[in-house]
Amino acid sequence: MRATSSEVVDVDLSVELGPLRLSNPIMPASGCFGPELASLLPLERLGALVTKTVFTAARSGNAAHRLTDSGSGSALNSVGIPSPGAASFRSQVLPRYSAHGTPVIVSIGGLAVDDYFSIADELSMAQFAAYEVNVSCPNLERGGISIGADPDQVYRVTRGVVDRAAGRPVIVKLTPNVASVDETACAAEEAGAAALTVANTFVGLAVDLRRRRPVLGNGTGGLSGHGIKPLVLRLVWEASRAVDIPIVGCGGIATTGDVAEFLVAGATAVQIGTATFSRPTTMAQMLDELPTQLTDLGCRRVADLVGSLQA
Ligand SMILES: Cc1cc2nc3c(=O)[nH]c(=O)nc-3n(C[C@H](O)[C@H](O)[C@H](O)COP(=O)(O)O)c2cc1C
Repeated sequence: MRATSSEVVDVDLSVELGPLRLSNPIMPASGCFGPELASLLPLERLGALVTKTVFTAARSGNAAHRLTDSGSGSALNSVGIPSPGAASFRSQVLPRYSAHGTPVIVSIGGLAVDDYFSIADELSMAQFAAYEVNVSCPNLERGGISIGADPDQVYRVTRGVVDRAAGRPVIVKLTPNVASVDETACAAEEAGAAALTVANTFVGLAVDLRRRRPVLGNGTGGLSGHGIKPLVLRLVWEASRAVDIPIVGCGGIATTGDVAEFLVAGATAVQIGTATFSRPTTMAQMLDELPTQLTDLGCRRVADLVGSLQA
């Protein structure tokens, strides 16, 4: 008989991303949450903490405006990934994430394939649980085309980071701005990725009518938030059928029901970004509600729901 919400007992929230075991499937999306928000959410409750993408050298990011509201809980950003650089990250930023005892996933980026290898070399002695490789960065050696749009480059970057990861699992965060997510997903899997994050933001444009100019200083930006949820659900579903490694769903997740939908579509864990801007306690609420949500769906474990979509 199906359990009712009043009978929530012994729900197992733990999940495995390859060799990485997490106490639950909820984590922040890179660049959308930091240790300075610890007063709003006990970070030790989260499954993992994902850092903002770090580059080898310090970067200042894009010109203002960097973020604009796109309505319906969505946002367009062209932050441009400001970074303190690997050395400062390691000595000053990483300890603030590690202080909470939650597994830390370090997001790394680069503007050329070799940049990813340099940063993996620089961080090889640091203490953290896993890498998330952000391949949505433009490759300046190839006219700014996203590394993540080319399966060959995804393979090269992933392979090189896996070789330098000192045994840590490597999660590859794919771009949604591709004709076929299957190809880049398979390239990352073949190169040794332990899991995939699906996905980064969709390229978009906001227009300032009076000035006849883009609203964002960079021109285009990345669309995130609740409006992209159906698009990302489709990508998660497709990617999960193309590969055998676990998927971390990311894009437009705002409620505990959204979390459950991503699990059903094939995600093993999820990341939350834009929803936390208007409600920083979003992830805490999801952790409170997830046992009841699973029980209501007749599940005792997160794994019971993962990939259960009948289509
Ligand atoms: C302001 C902002 C900054 C972001 N910075 C990063 C980043 O540094 N690295 C990265 O991989 N993704 C970054 N992202 C993308 C998010 O991690 C996430 O993939 C995307 O926002 C979709 O999830 P959401 O709809 O829950 O926000 C950023 C997104 C926003 C809105």
